[in-house]
Amino acid sequence: PRLFALVPAAGVGERSGAGMPKQYVDIAGRPMLAHTLAALAAVPRLAQTLVVLSPQDDRFEAAVPGYAGWLARVGGASRAESVLGGLAELRRRGVGEGDWVLVHDAARCLLRPEWVDALIDACLPDAVGGLLAQPVADTLKAGDAQGRVAATIDRRDKWAAQTPQMFRLGLVERALTAMGAAATDEASAVEALGLAPQLVRASMANFKVTWPEDFALAGRLLQPGCL
Ligand code: CTP
Ligand code: MG
Repeated sequence: PRLFALVPAAGVGERSGAGMPKQYVDIAGRPMLAHTLAALAAVPRLAQTLVVLSPQDDRFEAAVPGYAGWLARVGGASRAESVLGGLAELRRRGVGEGDWVLVHDAARCLLRPEWVDALIDACLPDAVGGLLAQPVADTLKAGDAQGRVAATIDRRDKWAAQTPQMFRLGLVERALTAMGAAATDEASAVEALGLAPQLVRASMANFKVTWPEDFALAGRLLQPGCL
């Protein structure tokens, strides 16, 4: 089986407050999406990368000049729908049921090739697949509508899910189709089929750029030699 990356990049970035889709915000001299795609391009075992854009996207070509991978303007109203559109595009391009797909958020622009390699090494011999994740270090609180603590949650078995998430095309497509727009990642959809994806430890630095203050932090971490 071959390995493919699928990058959902069709979101609007509402929480970022950037006034434009956050994947196009400049970080350390390049649009966020250019960093993300450079990290994936540095993984030789990936046969190809497919970027999923919004049908209205008119920024990609200027943001990532010379991009040599695959592109599809099939983004939907939710991340899950964008990923499903991308999976259908992979099928149209001849990717097989048993080929592996690594779904990776455009917004995780701090990705390092060595973390992707660790995921691939762990999942290739696995019957299910898996995801990058990080054990939770902080004590977890549930909060109420007034901003007060409603409960403390045992963190000892908790992990923060990241991406890439690596599953075979047939499985992830079946799983996301069954769960629909409610799925916030691929693993949760696979879990709903009764399967247990593998947790592969990466780094806290593989965070998802989400809030206004995240851009400055990502910019520091993307300085040469930092990560
Ligand atoms: N995404 C997508 N299609 C959507 C929604 C999200 O392809 N309809 C992508 C985003 O572009 C992002 C990734 O999924 O790379 C993770 O989503 P998130 O961080 O939530 O990004 P946004 O949805 O753009 O941000 P927000 O939720 O703050 O609006
Ligand atoms: Mg979102």
